[in-house]
Amino acid sequence: MPAPNVTVVSHPLVQHKLTLMRDVNTASSKFRALLREIGLLLTYEICRDLETELVEITTPLETFMAPRLEGKKLCFISILRAGNGLVDGMLDLVPSARVGHVGLYRDPQSFMPVEYYVKLPDHIEERLCICVDPMLATGNSAVAAVRRIKEAGARRIKFACLLAAPVGIENFSAAHPDVPILTASIDRELNDHAYILPGLGDAGDRMYGTK
Ligand code: URA
Repeated sequence: MPAPNVTVVSHPLVQHKLTLMRDVNTASSKFRALLREIGLLLTYEICRDLETELVEITTPLETFMAPRLEGKKLCFISILRAGNGLVDGMLDLVPSARVGHVGLYRDPQSFMPVEYYVKLPDHIEERLCICVDPMLATGNSAVAAVRRIKEAGARRIKFACLLAAPVGIENFSAAHPDVPILTASIDRELNDHAYILPGLGDAGDRMYGTK
């Protein structure tokens, strides 16, 4: 039973694409294309509760009050490097969004995140920030990235990933109970190297063919 702040996107298209991504025989080019497509579909779901305002527009036939998105532009924040693959699809759907990056690498011994790069858009406190990393494994990187985003002033944050491990959800929710998580799947567990099982391997390596 997922935690109350977790949404699993069980849409058949998302699940089908995810199955293709998990397959070890799926090439990097296909993997990237699928990640981008799922990024778009997850964004559709994560934006479900965006607020709209009515504005007067004129169609070729008449003038009327039509809804449009209210407030400052959205902010997508990629946890480097694999987050970029999801953000590409998010930008396909919301091209005017601002994009931030948080660079963290995982210390191979402790599995703890080490920050090496941060660049965030202005007025982050007024934007809905959607922080993304395909894999919520231990949760350590996501916890650190969201902490950093909060330090920069962000007040409304959501987290989107492709796969989540139960322990990652637990750690993330304990650190950031105010940040909802959206994922395409909650997988079984982590292995001894903190990889998600059954998972899809190293998302960054599979995207860029670096293994
Ligand atoms: N990061 C990955 O890319 N894959 C995992 O399974 C866990 C963390």
